[in-house]
Formats: sequence, structure tokens, C-alpha cells
Amino acid sequence: MADIKKILENMTIREKIGQLSQYDANLFIDTDAAVTGHIEWLGLSDGDLSCVGHVLNFKSPAEMRQIQREHLEKDRNKIPMLFMMDVIHGFRTIYPIPLAMGCSFDPDMVKECSRMTAKEAVRGGVQVTFTPMVDYVRDARWGRVMESTGEDAYLNSVMGAAQVRAFQGDDLSDKENIASCVKHFAAYGGAEAGRDYNTVELSEHTLREHYLPAYKACLDAGAEMIMPSFNTLNGIPSTANSWLMKTILKDEWGFNGIVISDYSAVKELMDHGVAEDGKAAARLAFDNNCDIEMCSAMYFNHLEGLIEEGVFTLEQLDKAVLKVLDLKNRLGMFDDPYRGADKTDIELTPENRDIARRAAENCAVLLKNDGVLPFKKSVTKIAVIGPFADNHNIIGFWSCNGKNEESVTVAEGIKRLLPGAEVTVVRGCGDEWDDTDTSGFDKAVNAAKAADAVVLCLGEPQDYSGEGNSRLELELHKIQLELARAVIDANTNTAVVTFSGRPIVLTELEKAAPAILNMWFPGTEGGTAAANLLFGVANPSGKLSMTFPRATGQCPIYYNHTNIIKYGKSGAHKPYCASYIEHDNLPLYSFGHGLSYSEFVYEGLELSKDSMKADESIEISITVRNASDIAGKETVMLYMCDPVASNARPVQQLIGFKKIYFEPNERKTIKFTVTEPMLRFWNNNNEFVSEPGEFRLSTGYADHLILTKEFVLK
Ligand code: NOJ
Repeated sequence: MADIKKILENMTIREKIGQLSQYDANLFIDTDAAVTGHIEWLGLSDGDLSCVGHVLNFKSPAEMRQIQREHLEKDRNKIPMLFMMDVIHGFRTIYPIPLAMGCSFDPDMVKECSRMTAKEAVRGGVQVTFTPMVDYVRDARWGRVMESTGEDAYLNSVMGAAQVRAFQGDDLSDKENIASCVKHFAAYGGAEAGRDYNTVELSEHTLREHYLPAYKACLDAGAEMIMPSFNTLNGIPSTANSWLMKTILKDEWGFNGIVISDYSAVKELMDHGVAEDGKAAARLAFDNNCDIEMCSAMYFNHLEGLIEEGVFTLEQLDKAVLKVLDLKNRLGMFDDPYRGADKTDIELTPENRDIARRAAENCAVLLKNDGVLPFKKSVTKIAVIGPFADNHNIIGFWSCNGKNEESVTVAEGIKRLLPGAEVTVVRGCGDEWDDTDTSGFDKAVNAAKAADAVVLCLGEPQDYSGEGNSRLELELHKIQLELARAVIDANTNTAVVTFSGRPIVLTELEKAAPAILNMWFPGTEGGTAAANLLFGVANPSGKLSMTFPRATGQCPIYYNHTNIIKYGKSGAHKPYCASYIEHDNLPLYSFGHGLSYSEFVYEGLELSKDSMKADESIEISITVRNASDIAGKETVMLYMCDPVASNARPVQQLIGFKKIYFEPNERKTIKFTVTEPMLRFWNNNNEFVSEPGEFRLSTGYADHLILTKEFVLK
């Protein structure tokens, strides 16, 4: 461990500002004119670069080692840099995108994947991951829904906290752990019209109840860092939003860790029109507790002047720098500045591939099954058709050192599972939204006719989701729908496998397809998992963590809405009803939907008593039976409804879930405990309270509650 106070005493103001600055790796290793130009444009000198504290976007452990070595040769204070990366769903071995992980309802599996990832990332030269992203999402047009675990605050909180604990472990000096940066604080997922970076307008009560809890849960789990979001909230960009950064984060939540801006977000305070120049931008960000500036250079260019002018004190600067040095110290960087980074690229291992395969099986959601699935393993002729039939680009956006070409495609997975079968692969059409070329249809139809079973692989390309990739139309591309109709006409023993980074609109496909298995972007072992699920080697158990709309125009659509008055419940349009002319109100598939090859029967919901005082609790017992000969997993969910309160409350709210394994024909009773804090909401006096009266507890899922019982809070 280093004596960081001593190091601080020896540092110049500029060197201290360096510890509050982070830049792309190319600024340190590339020597071409573009980079020199970039450095000049940033207003940095070589001296500044030699004392920068942090790097992002490096490509390999070798590059990390080179940058660190050259840095330590130049930096007078010999302070190692921290290397940070968006390690979102795997580092080298890629597991399913976070939205899919939400569908697993399996925090233990999330932990297992995050542990694997932390170990790989350390060897890859990473000490801090910009994960978890726990932005609450309701609008599938927004491309970054793929990074979130979905539309439920409780689910997001559980999954986010599980990741933080798994990444950081108990001791950051352990070289199998990395520090975690939760993002994007706050409400980035509320972008108007689902367009990335767009304005967010939210009532405080929706913000408090749905958007904020998961960030808080991650901080409570010990996340070392937090990143303010790009968006404005009620007119103020988060990096400069004192209500968010001071009142909530610091005063209410007591967060004392490190705040890092998003990419160039300090400079963008000018673009937002809340800072007249760079100096005002630096002032706003630093005043709002932003410790590290990512990628722009407002701190380098203006912080020293602001200190000289007395706007900020040296003590304020030192406090931020000490936080940074302390994290470096606890990570063991002063003892080993390479901290377990390999010298060469790390490789995939069978063990990690196996974790990714199990995760992909656990996350896939069987949306529809008329009985064609599982296919019999004895089929001899299989046609695998569609733009995703033999497509390696299924690992998903934000895939770090993962390589598309190493992923297992659906066709490969089927061939490996059934080496004796005759597998014909036909692309049929392209995957772009504006593809019109139908010249591959005949071949696809002929292959379907000749096959015993058809696997039709459709969806949107993986770069249609992720940062900056918003969509206007979520409907399955027209050409793919036409292909599907032609193929299913030719052979009804067809199962559709879908790939996407968001809920897409499958309304028309659903009418034609006998079965739909949604794989999201499943990662390195996606094709193996798909084959296992299609042929019954694995049993689907994913449940949707985000609602699938019936039409794009329904967005934003989510299960936990308040009572809608004048509601055309049946869905059809009625005059003077809250309904649409063209389509049902109800989504195509709600939050919580997901089929299995087992048949789970909910036999009973029992409450230990029918009333409780605020300091008491009620035990809930839900009895479920697997009424089939197939072993499987079921996520048993507990929903709460407060039918009458001083605020209109959600029609349903998830307050508990457990994913349980059942042997064939096994019966189990699953227990939950309900306490008063679980019944609270943000009232009109701006406090979290519960109100005495009747409450309903239900099991099942969102629009399909199976059993309900009431109790009274006294
Ligand atoms: C911008 C993204 O919004 C953020 O999520 C990411 O961590 C940073 N860039 C760094 O890559």
C-alpha cells in the first residue's frame, strides 16, 4: 500500500487535475497526426498527458501494459493509471445481453457470469467496469434497453446489486475482483420518444418509485463509482444537476465514492446550453461533485484558474484526488500497476463457454408453442432458414474482447447436437430493415418442403441496439415476415427463433408461427443453447423482463401502469375508451410471460394472517406443481396491489420472485415474507409511506394473475 497523503503533498495542481481526467487509449499509443491534432484540440500538453490518471477504450492487455509502462516512465509521481472499460455482458466470453439476463430471473446465474467476467477482465487489464447499467426502461425504441435488465425496479435492483457484489467481491486487492461503476444516474432510460440522448421529463414520484431504486441498490451493495447520465432531467443535464448529484446522491444517500462523467459530458454542458463556456462547464461539473472528467478537458483547461480565483479551494481538489488515489491503493495498483494483466490476449475456455451456454439457455424466452416444440431428436432432415440461421453476429452490442466469429451459430449448434441429421442451411433474405431482395425465397421454400423440421431464424441486426441505435419501427422487417409466411406455408413443423436487442413487434408473425423462441442476443454460445432448447435437451425457463408491444405506437408500454380509466380492457377499440383504433390495448406479450415444456400448475396461495400492523410481517406460501413428466424451472412471482391510496397506484407491482427447479411431477411450496416497507410509495408530501387499508397479493404474472388474496394493513 502506498502513503497516498504523502504522494498528494508532492503533487502540483496540474498533476492533481490529471488524476481527475480520463482519455482514450489511442491518445497514449498512436503517434499519427490525427492524434496529435486531437491532443492540441483538447488543449493538452505532453506534460498533461504524462500525469493523466485513467484510460478507457484500450484494445488488449498488451496495450494496457504498454501504456502503463510508458506512463510510469514519464510520471514524476509514479502514480499508476486506472484502466476502465464497458465490460457489460462478458469480457472475452460473452454471455447474453443484460435485458436477456433480466429474463433469467436468476441472480445466482448473474453472479456466476459476473464472477467469470471479473476474472477475465483482470487478465485483460481492466480494473474498473462501467457496469451495471440499471436504467429503468419502458420504451423499446431506445436502443439501450439491451443494457438494462428491464421494466421493473425491484428486478433491476436485485440484478444490479448482484453484479456489483460479484464484480467487487469482499476485497478489491484480490486480483480476481474489479471495481464497479453504476450508471447512468439518472433516468437516462426515460428519453422522450425512445431517442437516445433525448430530454427526460418525469414526475418526482415516478422517478422515485421506478427509476431511482436500482441505482440506490447498487450503491448499497458497495459500488465504488457512479456515472451521471447524458440527458437532462427537468431541464438540467445530470452532470450539472445539483438536485440529483448533491441533494439525492450525497445528502440523502450518503454516497462518498467517485463520480465519473460520461464521455465528454462535461464539455457537453455547453451543447446543452447550461454553460456559456468551458470554464462554466468545469465549474458546474466540479461543483456538482463530478470527480473525474471523461474524455473532454474542461478540468485541465479551467480547474486551476477556478482555484486561483477562489471559486474552489485546494481542499476540494485534494478531496477528489484522494478518493481516486485511495481507490488505486485499495485495488493494489501501487504494488502491482499491471494487476494481473496477461501479456497476450486471453483465450476462450471450455469452462467459460459452458457458463455462457447455460446462461443463454436460462435467458431464452419461449413466447409461443402450439406443440411443435421440442422437436424430436430423431428427425433426420432439418432446414435452418433465415438471416440468422448461420449468422455469427449474435453476441450483441458492447462485447469487449468477444469475437463474433467465435460464436456458435444456430446451424452450427444443431449440427453439433445432431451429427447424424441432414442439415440444410438457407439464408433466404437479408436482415436490414430496408432489404427487399426476395431472390432467396424459392431455395428457402424448397428446403422447408424437403425437411422434417424447420428452424426459422429471424430478427434485427445486433448493431440496431446499443448506444445511439434507436428505432422508429419495431415491427419485424417486412421481408422477413414474407419469408416466414412462405416457409411456414411450405412446412408447418416450423419453429421461429428470434434475435434482437429489444422487444420487437411480432404480432403478424405470431399469427403464422407455430412456435417462437426468443433468444435476444445470446452471446458466444447462443447457437448451442438454441439447439438444446429446440430439441428438448434444455427446457426454456426465461420470463420477459420487458413487455412486447403489439405495435410500435403502443410505446412506452409496461405492466406496472396505474389504473386507466375508461379502459377498453378487452383491448378492442370502443368510443370514449382509452383505446386505439387499429389495435388492442394489451401488449402482445407482457412482462413475466414465458412458456416451458413442463406444465406448472399453481395450486394455492396462502397468507399466514389476513391483517398486520406496520411492525409485523405476513408469510406467503405459494404451492406449485409440475404437472408434467419433464423437469423444469419456474419463476414464481409475487405481485402487490394497493387498490385505494392517496396516489393512484400501479395495477400490479412485483415485490418478490424465486426461480425454482422442479423434478417431473414434483410439488413445492415457495415462501415469501411481506413487510410494511414493501408496501410504501412516494406520496404527495414527498415521502415514502404506506397507507393503512386493504392490499392484494397475487401470483402468476403481469396481465395473467392466477391466484389472489387480500390482507389489511392496520
Ligand atoms: C458513453 C456511454 O453512455 C457510457 O455508457 C459508457 O460507459 C461510456 N461512453 C464509456 O464508453
